[in-house]
Amino acid sequence: MMNSQPGILEPIPNHGKYLFFDLLSGGNAAQSLRLLAEVVDGDDIVVGIGRSLALRLGARVPGLKSFPVRSRAHIDIPSTQSSLMCWLRGTDPGDLFHRARRVRALLEEGFVASDCVDTFKYGSGLDLTGYEDGTENPTGQAAVDAAIVNGKGPGLDGSSFVAMQQWLHDFGKFEALSAIQADNSIGRRLKDNIELEDAPESAHVKRTAQESFKPEAFMLRRSMPWSSTDTKGGLFFSAFGTSVNAFEAQLARMIGDEDGISDALFKFTRPISGSYFWCPPLHEGRIDLRAISL
Ligand code: HEM
Repeated sequence: MMNSQPGILEPIPNHGKYLFFDLLSGGNAAQSLRLLAEVVDGDDIVVGIGRSLALRLGARVPGLKSFPVRSRAHIDIPSTQSSLMCWLRGTDPGDLFHRARRVRALLEEGFVASDCVDTFKYGSGLDLTGYEDGTENPTGQAAVDAAIVNGKGPGLDGSSFVAMQQWLHDFGKFEALSAIQADNSIGRRLKDNIELEDAPESAHVKRTAQESFKPEAFMLRRSMPWSSTDTKGGLFFSAFGTSVNAFEAQLARMIGDEDGISDALFKFTRPISGSYFWCPPLHEGRIDLRAISL
Protein backbone atom coordinates (compact mmCIF):
# COMPACT_ATOMS: atom_id res chain seq x y z
CA MET A 1 0.00 0.00 0.00
CA MET A 2 1.80 3.10 -1.24
CA ASN A 3 -0.14 5.63 0.82
CA SER A 4 0.53 4.33 4.32
CA GLN A 5 2.95 6.22 6.57
CA PRO A 6 6.21 4.51 5.48
CA GLY A 7 7.67 4.38 9.00
CA ILE A 8 5.05 1.77 9.92
CA LEU A 9 6.25 -0.84 7.43
CA GLU A 10 9.97 -0.04 7.68
CA PRO A 11 12.22 -1.86 10.16
CA ILE A 12 12.66 -0.13 13.51
CA PRO A 13 15.19 2.73 13.45
CA ASN A 14 18.31 2.91 15.62
CA HIS A 15 16.70 5.58 17.78
CA GLY A 16 13.12 6.61 18.47
CA LYS A 17 11.30 9.17 20.54
CA TYR A 18 7.61 8.82 21.34
CA LEU A 19 5.84 12.09 22.11
CA PHE A 20 2.34 12.09 23.59
CA PHE A 21 0.03 15.10 23.80
CA ASP A 22 -3.25 15.97 25.48
CA LEU A 23 -5.70 18.55 24.18
CA LEU A 24 -5.08 22.04 25.55
CA SER A 25 -8.25 23.28 27.15
CA GLY A 26 -9.59 26.09 24.94
CA GLY A 27 -6.71 25.56 22.47
CA ASN A 28 -6.80 25.40 18.69
CA ALA A 29 -6.19 21.72 17.98
CA ALA A 30 -7.21 21.99 14.32
CA GLN A 31 -4.71 24.75 13.61
CA SER A 32 -1.88 22.88 15.38
CA LEU A 33 -2.66 19.73 13.46
CA ARG A 34 -2.62 21.59 10.15
CA LEU A 35 0.85 22.95 11.01
CA LEU A 36 2.03 19.47 11.96
CA ALA A 37 0.62 17.99 8.74
CA GLU A 38 2.82 20.35 6.72
CA VAL A 39 6.00 18.75 8.09
CA VAL A 40 4.99 15.12 8.63
CA ASP A 41 5.98 12.68 5.88
CA GLY A 42 5.09 9.53 7.83
CA ASP A 43 8.69 8.33 7.67
CA ASP A 44 10.83 10.46 10.02
CA ILE A 45 7.67 11.06 12.04
CA VAL A 46 4.73 8.66 12.28
CA VAL A 47 1.61 10.38 13.60
CA GLY A 48 -1.31 8.82 15.46
CA ILE A 49 -4.63 10.45 16.33
CA GLY A 50 -6.39 9.60 19.59
CA ARG A 51 -10.16 9.30 19.92
CA SER A 52 -10.57 12.51 21.91
CA LEU A 53 -8.84 14.50 19.18
CA ALA A 54 -11.08 13.03 16.47
CA LEU A 55 -14.12 13.86 18.58
CA ARG A 56 -12.86 17.40 19.23
CA LEU A 57 -12.74 17.87 15.44
CA GLY A 58 -16.28 16.55 15.16
CA ALA A 59 -15.18 13.32 13.48
CA ARG A 60 -15.59 9.63 14.19
CA VAL A 61 -13.02 7.21 12.81
CA PRO A 62 -14.67 3.77 12.65
CA GLY A 63 -12.75 1.42 14.97
CA LEU A 64 -10.90 4.13 16.90
CA LYS A 65 -11.46 3.74 20.61
CA SER A 66 -9.72 4.58 23.87
CA PHE A 67 -7.42 2.06 25.50
CA PRO A 68 -9.38 0.13 28.16
CA VAL A 69 -8.18 -0.49 31.72
CA ARG A 70 -8.04 -4.22 32.50
CA SER A 71 -7.31 -6.01 35.73
CA ARG A 72 -6.99 -9.58 36.96
CA ALA A 73 -5.58 -10.92 40.22
CA HIS A 74 -1.98 -9.64 40.38
CA ILE A 75 -2.19 -8.01 36.93
CA ASP A 76 -3.01 -4.39 36.17
CA ILE A 77 -3.26 -3.15 32.60
CA PRO A 78 -3.35 0.65 32.82
CA SER A 79 -4.72 3.09 30.29
CA THR A 80 -2.88 6.38 29.76
CA GLN A 81 -4.79 7.35 26.63
CA SER A 82 -3.75 10.68 25.16
CA SER A 83 -4.97 12.68 22.15
CA LEU A 84 -2.01 12.67 19.82
CA MET A 85 1.15 10.62 19.35
CA CYS A 86 4.26 11.40 17.30
CA TRP A 87 6.82 8.63 16.84
CA LEU A 88 10.08 10.32 15.84
CA ARG A 89 12.38 7.89 14.04
CA GLY A 90 16.06 8.41 13.28
CA THR A 91 19.70 7.54 13.76
CA ASP A 92 20.92 10.38 15.96
CA PRO A 93 19.51 11.18 19.43
CA GLY A 94 20.65 14.81 19.06
CA ASP A 95 18.64 15.15 15.87
CA LEU A 96 15.59 13.59 17.54
CA PHE A 97 15.92 16.03 20.43
CA HIS A 98 15.79 19.03 18.10
CA ARG A 99 12.96 17.56 16.01
CA ALA A 100 10.97 16.99 19.21
CA ARG A 101 11.44 20.65 20.17
CA ARG A 102 10.16 21.72 16.75
CA VAL A 103 7.14 19.40 16.94
CA ARG A 104 6.25 20.72 20.42
CA ALA A 105 6.51 24.31 19.16
CA LEU A 106 4.22 23.57 16.20
CA LEU A 107 1.63 22.04 18.51
CA GLU A 108 1.69 24.55 21.37
CA GLU A 109 -1.53 26.36 20.36
CA GLY A 110 -3.59 23.21 20.67
CA PHE A 111 -1.84 20.61 22.81
CA VAL A 112 0.15 20.04 25.99
CA ALA A 113 2.90 17.42 26.14
CA SER A 114 1.89 14.54 28.42
CA ASP A 115 4.71 12.00 28.03
CA CYS A 116 7.96 11.35 26.17
CA VAL A 117 9.77 8.01 25.88
CA ASP A 118 13.24 7.58 24.38
CA THR A 119 13.80 4.25 22.66
CA PHE A 120 16.59 2.53 20.79
CA LYS A 121 17.45 -0.59 18.86
CA TYR A 122 19.39 -3.09 20.98
CA GLY A 123 21.82 -5.31 19.07
CA SER A 124 20.13 -7.03 16.15
CA GLY A 125 16.66 -6.14 17.46
CA LEU A 126 16.59 -7.61 20.94
CA ASP A 127 14.43 -6.95 23.95
CA LEU A 128 16.56 -5.82 26.94
CA THR A 129 16.24 -9.37 28.33
CA GLY A 130 18.36 -10.45 25.35
CA TYR A 131 15.56 -12.29 23.50
CA GLU A 132 15.06 -11.46 19.84
CA ASP A 133 11.83 -9.55 19.31
CA GLY A 134 9.92 -9.56 16.05
CA THR A 135 10.88 -13.00 14.69
CA GLU A 136 7.30 -14.00 13.83
CA ASN A 137 6.33 -10.63 12.42
CA PRO A 138 4.60 -10.86 9.04
CA THR A 139 6.73 -9.50 6.18
CA GLY A 140 6.13 -8.17 2.65
CA GLN A 141 2.51 -8.31 1.50
CA ALA A 142 1.53 -10.17 4.70
CA ALA A 143 2.76 -7.19 6.74
CA VAL A 144 0.69 -4.82 4.60
CA ASP A 145 -2.38 -7.07 4.94
CA ALA A 146 -1.94 -7.22 8.73
CA ALA A 147 -1.26 -3.55 9.35
CA ILE A 148 -2.76 -1.36 6.63
CA VAL A 149 -6.48 -0.63 6.15
CA ASN A 150 -7.79 -1.44 2.68
CA GLY A 151 -11.20 -1.29 1.02
CA LYS A 152 -12.74 1.28 3.39
CA GLY A 153 -12.58 4.24 1.00
CA PRO A 154 -10.50 7.39 0.51
CA GLY A 155 -9.21 8.97 3.71
CA LEU A 156 -9.23 5.58 5.49
CA ASP A 157 -7.41 3.29 3.04
CA GLY A 158 -3.68 3.33 3.85
CA SER A 159 -4.31 4.12 7.50
CA SER A 160 -3.44 1.88 10.45
CA PHE A 161 -4.41 1.40 14.09
CA VAL A 162 -1.63 1.15 16.67
CA ALA A 163 -1.65 -0.20 20.23
CA MET A 164 1.15 1.07 22.47
CA GLN A 165 2.27 0.01 25.93
CA GLN A 166 5.38 0.92 27.85
CA TRP A 167 6.53 -2.17 29.77
CA LEU A 168 8.80 -1.79 32.80
CA HIS A 169 11.08 -4.79 33.35
CA ASP A 170 12.20 -5.91 36.81
CA PHE A 171 15.69 -7.06 35.90
CA GLY A 172 16.31 -8.42 39.40
CA LYS A 173 13.38 -10.80 38.97
CA PHE A 174 14.36 -11.69 35.43
CA GLU A 175 17.95 -12.44 36.39
CA ALA A 176 16.79 -14.60 39.30
CA LEU A 177 15.23 -17.03 36.77
CA SER A 178 17.32 -20.00 35.68
CA ALA A 179 18.14 -20.16 31.96
CA ILE A 180 15.46 -22.83 31.53
CA GLN A 181 12.84 -20.81 33.42
CA ALA A 182 13.64 -17.74 31.32
CA ASP A 183 13.42 -19.72 28.04
CA ASN A 184 10.13 -21.22 29.22
CA SER A 185 8.77 -17.74 29.96
CA ILE A 186 9.30 -16.65 26.39
CA GLY A 187 8.92 -20.07 24.73
CA ARG A 188 12.12 -19.63 22.76
CA ARG A 189 15.76 -20.44 23.53
CA LEU A 190 17.91 -17.39 24.28
CA LYS A 191 21.05 -18.81 22.70
CA ASP A 192 19.63 -19.58 19.24
CA ASN A 193 16.04 -18.23 19.21
CA ILE A 194 14.65 -21.72 18.47
CA GLU A 195 11.01 -22.12 19.53
CA LEU A 196 10.59 -24.65 22.36
CA GLU A 197 8.18 -27.42 21.37
CA ASP A 198 7.50 -28.41 24.97
CA ALA A 199 7.09 -24.87 26.34
CA PRO A 200 4.46 -24.51 29.09
CA GLU A 201 1.06 -23.00 28.29
CA SER A 202 2.15 -19.78 30.05
CA ALA A 203 5.01 -19.22 27.58
CA HIS A 204 4.63 -15.86 25.87
CA VAL A 205 4.78 -17.21 22.31
CA LYS A 206 2.19 -19.87 23.16
CA ARG A 207 -0.15 -17.20 24.57
CA THR A 208 0.25 -15.00 21.49
CA ALA A 209 0.70 -17.52 18.60
CA GLN A 210 -0.99 -15.44 15.91
CA GLU A 211 -2.40 -18.29 13.83
CA SER A 212 -3.95 -19.98 16.88
CA PHE A 213 -6.70 -17.34 17.22
CA LYS A 214 -10.06 -17.40 15.48
CA PRO A 215 -9.93 -15.26 13.41
CA GLU A 216 -6.14 -15.33 13.14
CA ALA A 217 -4.62 -12.40 15.04
CA PHE A 218 -1.78 -11.14 12.88
CA MET A 219 -0.31 -7.73 13.54
CA LEU A 220 2.92 -5.88 12.85
CA ARG A 221 5.03 -5.30 15.96
CA ARG A 222 7.46 -2.41 15.94
CA SER A 223 8.49 -2.48 19.60
CA MET A 224 11.71 -0.85 20.81
CA PRO A 225 13.61 -1.02 24.10
CA TRP A 226 13.53 2.06 26.31
CA SER A 227 15.56 3.22 29.29
CA SER A 228 15.36 6.30 31.43
CA THR A 229 17.95 5.88 34.17
CA ASP A 230 20.79 3.50 34.94
CA THR A 231 18.35 0.95 36.25
CA LYS A 232 14.94 1.61 34.69
CA GLY A 233 14.13 0.12 31.33
CA GLY A 234 11.96 -2.27 29.40
CA LEU A 235 10.12 -2.63 26.13
CA PHE A 236 8.08 0.06 24.44
CA PHE A 237 5.59 -2.28 22.78
CA SER A 238 3.81 -1.13 19.66
CA ALA A 239 1.69 -3.14 17.25
CA PHE A 240 0.02 -1.92 14.06
CA GLY A 241 -3.14 -3.51 12.70
CA THR A 242 -6.14 -2.93 10.46
CA SER A 243 -7.97 -2.62 13.80
CA VAL A 244 -7.01 -3.20 17.44
CA ASN A 245 -8.84 -6.54 17.48
CA ALA A 246 -5.76 -8.77 17.13
CA PHE A 247 -4.00 -6.90 19.94
CA GLU A 248 -7.04 -7.16 22.21
CA ALA A 249 -7.41 -10.89 21.56
CA GLN A 250 -3.75 -11.47 22.40
CA LEU A 251 -3.73 -9.30 25.49
CA ALA A 252 -6.89 -11.04 26.75
CA ARG A 253 -5.14 -14.40 26.45
CA MET A 254 -1.97 -13.00 28.05
CA ILE A 255 -3.89 -11.98 31.17
CA GLY A 256 -5.69 -15.33 31.35
CA ASP A 257 -9.19 -14.37 30.16
CA GLU A 258 -9.63 -17.63 28.25
CA ASP A 259 -8.22 -20.28 30.57
CA GLY A 260 -7.02 -18.55 33.74
CA ILE A 261 -3.38 -18.99 32.71
CA SER A 262 -1.47 -15.73 32.59
CA ASP A 263 1.56 -14.99 30.46
CA ALA A 264 4.86 -15.82 32.18
CA LEU A 265 6.14 -12.40 31.10
CA PHE A 266 4.20 -10.92 34.02
CA LYS A 267 6.67 -12.59 36.39
CA PHE A 268 9.25 -9.95 35.50
CA THR A 269 7.58 -7.13 33.60
CA ARG A 270 4.41 -5.04 33.65
CA PRO A 271 2.83 -2.35 31.49
CA ILE A 272 2.89 1.20 32.88
CA SER A 273 1.05 2.87 30.00
CA GLY A 274 -1.49 1.99 27.32
CA SER A 275 -3.00 3.84 24.37
CA TYR A 276 -4.57 3.40 20.94
CA PHE A 277 -4.15 5.70 17.97
CA TRP A 278 -5.29 5.87 14.38
CA CYS A 279 -2.42 6.61 12.00
CA PRO A 280 -3.83 8.47 8.99
CA PRO A 281 -2.78 7.64 5.42
CA LEU A 282 -0.66 9.89 3.22
CA HIS A 283 -1.84 12.03 0.34
CA GLU A 284 0.76 13.65 -1.92
CA GLY A 285 3.49 12.94 0.63
CA ARG A 286 1.72 14.48 3.62
CA ILE A 287 -0.69 13.02 6.15
CA ASP A 288 -4.25 12.90 4.88
CA LEU A 289 -6.64 14.20 7.54
CA ARG A 290 -9.85 14.06 5.50
CA ALA A 291 -11.30 11.35 7.76
CA ILE A 292 -11.11 13.72 10.71
CA SER A 293 -12.66 16.64 8.84
CA LEU A 294 -9.44 18.58 8.12
C1 HEM B 1 7.46 -6.72 27.83
C2 HEM B 1 6.61 -7.06 26.91
C3 HEM B 1 6.93 -8.02 25.81
C4 HEM B 1 8.09 -8.67 25.51
C5 HEM B 1 9.43 -8.58 26.22
C6 HEM B 1 7.83 -9.49 24.37
C7 HEM B 1 8.76 -10.30 23.76
C8 HEM B 1 8.49 -11.19 22.74
C9 HEM B 1 9.43 -12.13 22.20
C10 HEM B 1 10.87 -12.28 22.67
C11 HEM B 1 8.81 -12.83 21.23
C12 HEM B 1 9.39 -13.98 20.38
C13 HEM B 1 9.95 -13.55 19.05
C14 HEM B 1 8.97 -12.94 18.12
O1 HEM B 1 8.25 -13.63 17.38
O2 HEM B 1 8.89 -11.72 18.13
C15 HEM B 1 7.46 -12.32 21.15
C16 HEM B 1 6.51 -12.76 20.28
C17 HEM B 1 5.26 -12.22 20.17
N1 HEM B 1 4.70 -11.28 20.98
FE1 HEM B 1 5.59 -10.34 22.53
N2 HEM B 1 6.52 -9.34 23.99
C18 HEM B 1 5.94 -8.45 24.85
C19 HEM B 1 4.62 -8.02 24.85
C20 HEM B 1 3.69 -8.42 23.96
C21 HEM B 1 2.32 -7.98 23.93
C22 HEM B 1 1.70 -6.98 24.91
C23 HEM B 1 1.72 -8.59 22.86
C24 HEM B 1 0.30 -8.49 22.38
C25 HEM B 1 -0.72 -8.13 23.11
C26 HEM B 1 2.73 -9.40 22.22
C27 HEM B 1 2.53 -10.13 21.08
C28 HEM B 1 3.45 -10.99 20.52
C29 HEM B 1 3.19 -11.78 19.32
C30 HEM B 1 1.95 -11.73 18.46
C31 HEM B 1 4.33 -12.56 19.11
C32 HEM B 1 4.55 -13.59 18.01
C33 HEM B 1 3.80 -14.86 18.37
C34 HEM B 1 3.81 -15.87 17.25
O3 HEM B 1 2.97 -15.76 16.35
O4 HEM B 1 4.71 -16.74 17.30
N3 HEM B 1 3.90 -9.29 22.90
N4 HEM B 1 7.29 -11.32 22.08
